[in-house]
Amino acid sequence: MAECGVATRHHVSPTSVTIVKCAPPPTPTEAFSCHDIITYMKKILVTGGTGFIGSHTVVELLNAGYDVDIIDNLCNSKASVIDKILEITGKKPTFYQQDLLNQPALDQLFQTNEYYAVMHFAGLKSVSESQSKPYEYHHNNIVSTLNIIKCTLEYKVNRLIFSSSATVYGTQDSPECFESMTTGQGITNPYGRTKYFIEEILKDVSAGHPELSITLLRYFNPIGNHPSGLIGEDPNGIPNNIMPVIIRVAQGKIAKLKVFGNDYDTPDGTGQRDFIHVVDLAKGHIAALKHMQKGVNIYNLGTGTANSVLELIYSFERISGQKIPYEIVDRRPGDLGAVWANPAKANAELGWKTQLTIEDAITDTLQYLKLHQ
Ligand code: UD1
Repeated sequence: MAECGVATRHHVSPTSVTIVKCAPPPTPTEAFSCHDIITYMKKILVTGGTGFIGSHTVVELLNAGYDVDIIDNLCNSKASVIDKILEITGKKPTFYQQDLLNQPALDQLFQTNEYYAVMHFAGLKSVSESQSKPYEYHHNNIVSTLNIIKCTLEYKVNRLIFSSSATVYGTQDSPECFESMTTGQGITNPYGRTKYFIEEILKDVSAGHPELSITLLRYFNPIGNHPSGLIGEDPNGIPNNIMPVIIRVAQGKIAKLKVFGNDYDTPDGTGQRDFIHVVDLAKGHIAALKHMQKGVNIYNLGTGTANSVLELIYSFERISGQKIPYEIVDRRPGDLGAVWANPAKANAELGWKTQLTIEDAITDTLQYLKLHQ
């Protein structure tokens, strides 16, 4: 199928997609189906496609037969990810090193390509940095999204998937998050508010442009990496999130993990989160892409279960055979005790469900560490 796809990809215009669609079905002996050809020719623009979640989603898009263009300014990722994606999938996405704030460059990209959809991952994402650089976070995340919206409207790319976050739920009465809950209350940092503001902007844009299909995917806590260990999470600077900190401790780069509080109303007193394997998360994007509907559709991407910080540490120790020194310190300001997804809507409407466990995520993380000492 791939070879056939490569042969047709550069020659078939979007008009001829219809012709292929109307052609008689291939015989069972043919190595590909009509559906495969149509899917293959759908080109997806992935912003932030060299980043942690973006790169894993690009792998799933290529494996599902989509054609992929990546735009990324490499502010928190490396161009070498493109070769790793090639090694995993046998296919190389087209890479544009470009900033989304550069509207003329974006215009040129949309002028010269026919995109079926845009998946918008790019954005600054450090909670602590967002507190010391609020202007940069609001400017970068919001203006770059407005630039993407402008292009999708101007060039009639009517499908947009946005990387949102469980952070938009802010403070709620219940730890279990449903898409129907009111969002935006009690978000404790500028990064989180950019996610909330962008959701609201996209709702306004949708109301004025009913031709658009917009999907907001609210991620819970992604961990792990591709089982090959070739791509993974490699944040610049000091990490905030739990798994990158555990990795730094395992590598001996940080002496001790600080556990932020053991007096929460949870079984062992430490924070509980819905840790989702990034490969499951990436697959959620493919499911969302295949089920895009007009208007704004919102889905939680999570497992529906929660594990505590101590459970994560102990699982890591058990699977790696390595001690993770830790100490209990004060709560981190702005943290919540327990948060998990109710993923029923994504399960039912997208036909998507997580398949992998935190043990899988840890095993895959160890493979990444083996290759990236
Ligand atoms: C955090 C952000 C959230 C963002 C998400 C991205 C805050 C308040 N929230 O969520 O806006 O969308 O990351 O993935 O920062 N922990 C430790 N020690 C550490 C690091 C974390 O004990 O060194 C604990 C935390 O207290 C928490 C759990 O681990 O209980 C998960 O923390 P983290 O990975 O930072 O994710 P969130 O706090 O859920």
